[in-house]
Amino acid sequence: MTLGQGWTLSGMTTHTAIEIRGLTKSFSDKVVLAGVDLDVPVGHVVALLGSNGAGKTTVVRILSTLLRPDGGSALVGGADVTSDPARVRESISLTGQFAAVDEALTGRENLVLIAQLRHVPNAQDVADRLLARFSLTEAADRKAATYSGGMRRRLDIAMSLIGDPPVLFLDEPTTGLDPQARIEVWETVKQLAEAGTTVLLTTQYLDEAEHLADRIAILHQGRIIADGTLAELKALFPPATREYVEKQPSLEEIFLAIIGSPNAERTATTATTAITTSTSEAHR
Ligand SMILES: Nc1ncnc2c1ncn2[C@@H]1O[C@H](COP(=O)(O)OP(=O)(O)OP(=O)(O)O)[C@@H](O)[C@H]1O
Ligand SMILES: [Mg+2]
Repeated sequence: MTLGQGWTLSGMTTHTAIEIRGLTKSFSDKVVLAGVDLDVPVGHVVALLGSNGAGKTTVVRILSTLLRPDGGSALVGGADVTSDPARVRESISLTGQFAAVDEALTGRENLVLIAQLRHVPNAQDVADRLLARFSLTEAADRKAATYSGGMRRRLDIAMSLIGDPPVLFLDEPTTGLDPQARIEVWETVKQLAEAGTTVLLTTQYLDEAEHLADRIAILHQGRIIADGTLAELKALFPPATREYVEKQPSLEEIFLAIIGSPNAERTATTATTAITTSTSEAHR
């Protein structure tokens, strides 16, 4: 298995890390997935966008072999989630919607535990490197129960990277985080993508999808109703008209400036008089 070059399967190389066809799932008589089709190329970040209850976690649970689909197929790294779940599990890692951190352990102990469970050599060194990478070295020997939400989320993502999985599922990685912690998680995801990891993340936040994803897939009423780059999705709308607006700083920008975040400068540059495009004219 070579990162960035696709998986070699039966002598063929595939550049699709995740391939979903006609996936269905119902709970009792409630149809949640009514035929989901989605491709995620190797090394891409795809955001699965949908409102509460749309079925995002259900898709992620099927892809990570925690839940059996009723019909259709899903391949991860060329392996079928239903007929070959063990091979799927070799290439994936999941950061669930609710943090999987053990609060009674320190940050370092959490990492070492996972490294040992995954039979990764030099567990202590691996833990130290991840603690440094996620700015958790100072807090390494404190119980995770004392961590802030952002620190816990970073530790959770760090834990899921042990063993260098080529495919990472992040289920709502920033829900409940403050703006600064969200941006920290975004930076982490961007770095992973640059290093060649394939990421499928779910989110309810349009701006998160916009910031992070190469492609955005919208899950609605059991199906992917739109799938493409941001530019492609924007092109689905009628042509934009140009209008001048006085753009006020958002509360997020004010918050970041007041707390002196290095991210403030980046966002503040947008808080000036700007030309923006609008489709409002075309919607009328
Ligand atoms: N094990 C289950 N048993 C019964 N119903 C379930 C089960 N798991 C999920 N559902 C239902 O399936 C639907 C989709 O749930 P899912 O958790 O996939 O949504 P989601 O898009 O992740 O929502 P959220 O944004 O709130 O996390 C919901 O109506 C949920 O109640
Ligand atoms: Mg969910």
